[in-house]
Amino acid sequence: MRILIAYHSDYGSTEKMAQAISAGASASQTDCKVTVKQAADTSLNDLEKADVILFGTPVHMGSMAWPMKKLVDETSKLWMENTLEGKVGGVFATGGGLGSAGGGIEQTLISLHSNFLEHGMVVIGFPKSLPGYADAGLHWGVCARTSNHEGMPQGISDAALVAARSYGAHVAAMAAHILGADL
Ligand SMILES: Cc1cc2nc3c(=O)[nH]c(=O)nc-3n(C[C@H](O)[C@H](O)[C@H](O)COP(=O)(O)O)c2cc1C
Repeated sequence: MRILIAYHSDYGSTEKMAQAISAGASASQTDCKVTVKQAADTSLNDLEKADVILFGTPVHMGSMAWPMKKLVDETSKLWMENTLEGKVGGVFATGGGLGSAGGGIEQTLISLHSNFLEHGMVVIGFPKSLPGYADAGLHWGVCARTSNHEGMPQGISDAALVAARSYGAHVAAMAAHILGADL
């Protein structure tokens, strides 16, 4: 099973989430090959080759960062050809999240879902029974708040990385179950 984790990160928090998701997936399914790539370096061919695709982004002004949106828009060519249909997807995000509404992180995760579902992919959420959910979980996917109450960056917490690892393991396990017969 080939898993591609494509992300954008300016300051490293989303990248740390991507690495933790990768570690969780590899630990969960020993026969899977995980590739972690920046969105800007991800080609349509990379997406085509993957059985499982995870997209991750920081929240920028209430939605995904533009390098991730650029990749999302480029997938329209694959939409024309139904190339991603039946693949398994997962999503993650980090955000400063000043205020109780989360600064747009939920909307960001849902908009990534929309793109995957538009392609006919199967999207895996984040069940609340999994380790880390209380700290960095939303049912849409794994997410981390990276600022303190003054809105200043404080980096990613160990608890968020636990959640990312458990989400990676969960997506890989679900994908093995869903795609098992076809691999
Ligand atoms: C241009 C810009 C806009 C941002 N807008 C938001 C926002 O609307 N909501 C939010 O929660 N965080 C916002 N943030 C904070 C980032 O989402 C947060 O610091 C994130 O964890 C950075 O991820 P990175 O370290 O992977 O780059 C913004 C940051 C930047 C640089």
